[in-house]
Amino acid sequence: MTDFNSILLPVADDFTAMDHFIQTGINSKVPLVLSVSRYVVEAGGKRMRPLMSLLAARACGFANSDNPKHIDQHLKFAAIIEMLHTATLVHDDVVDESGLRRGRPTANATWTNATAVLVGDYLIARAFDLLVKLGDLELLHIMSSGTCEIAEGEVLQLQHQHNPDSTEADYLQIIYGKTSRLFMLATEGAALLTHSEHLRLPLKAYGEHFGNAFQIIDDILDYTSDAETLGKNIGDDLAEGKPTLPLIATMQRVHIKDNEMIRLSIQTGGLNDLDKIVDLVKNSGGLEYCQMRAKQETELAIAALNPLPESIYKQALINLAKLALDRLK
Ligand code: IPE
Ligand code: IPE
Ligand code: MG
Ligand code: MG
Repeated sequence: MTDFNSILLPVADDFTAMDHFIQTGINSKVPLVLSVSRYVVEAGGKRMRPLMSLLAARACGFANSDNPKHIDQHLKFAAIIEMLHTATLVHDDVVDESGLRRGRPTANATWTNATAVLVGDYLIARAFDLLVKLGDLELLHIMSSGTCEIAEGEVLQLQHQHNPDSTEADYLQIIYGKTSRLFMLATEGAALLTHSEHLRLPLKAYGEHFGNAFQIIDDILDYTSDAETLGKNIGDDLAEGKPTLPLIATMQRVHIKDNEMIRLSIQTGGLNDLDKIVDLVKNSGGLEYCQMRAKQETELAIAALNPLPESIYKQALINLAKLALDRLK
């Protein structure tokens, strides 16, 4: 089985340099902005989106000799993607009232909601500040409109909170915005920066399906994993009355009494029925359905890479999609 480090190996130098850009990119003159930003960024995280972006750039055939003047453009871009991602997590934890992230207390729990929202704003603004310096107007365009859609996805999710009638189609629309859109930017942006026009759509489709699979998996793990493995608390989604796919699929498969219990849990939020609901998710076929959907999306992501020339980088992108699925094992 491939692990994260062997996927990273072909772009190990890029990855180290990218991480350096993340650290140096945050340079606010306001001490609180600096300390909160550093706190969330230094907590680590898998850095999966920037890794994907670096691999995509190399899979497009980018070589250091191609563009000696702008040798580090794709590294800076990958760092910008991770800054945006971190900002969305800081905001997400305020909205979700989450207390644990990347194995540490969240920014909202450590400081205040207001601080977390404002520093999240700073991180987004700073990411765009750095993006402008890359001097690519088309890239700026896809990043700005994509970021609008990410915000829309989070708001859409808010509207569906406590709504037990949310459908799988509603769910897919939400995760497209809040999660898949950033994956798509990470990969399409890499194609754009390396002037690989013909690979933009394939890489964008890879990002979309990977993102869908990844969020479905995350939503499964919110019911089946544990805080130590995940670095965040499980049950957060139920506590918040979020109609995620595990609940939507389970409600379709259980008797009316259990269906009513899940409906009520979504309407009121809270963890009173967590154990019973976890049991139903696991034993009704709901979990299997979600696993099947995650697998389908992973296969679509891998198939989308067909137009790319064979390379160790393309293979690493394939392995990364498979590895994400392996988190369910
Ligand atoms: C968390 O993303 C948000 C989701 C889309 C589920 P990650 O699981 O990639 O978070 P980090 O960056 O590794 O902390
Ligand atoms: C993903 O949703 C958050 C973003 C894409 C911003 P979740 O709410 O499921 O993410 P976690 O579980 O808090 O990481
Ligand atoms: Mg959350
Ligand atoms: Mg989650």
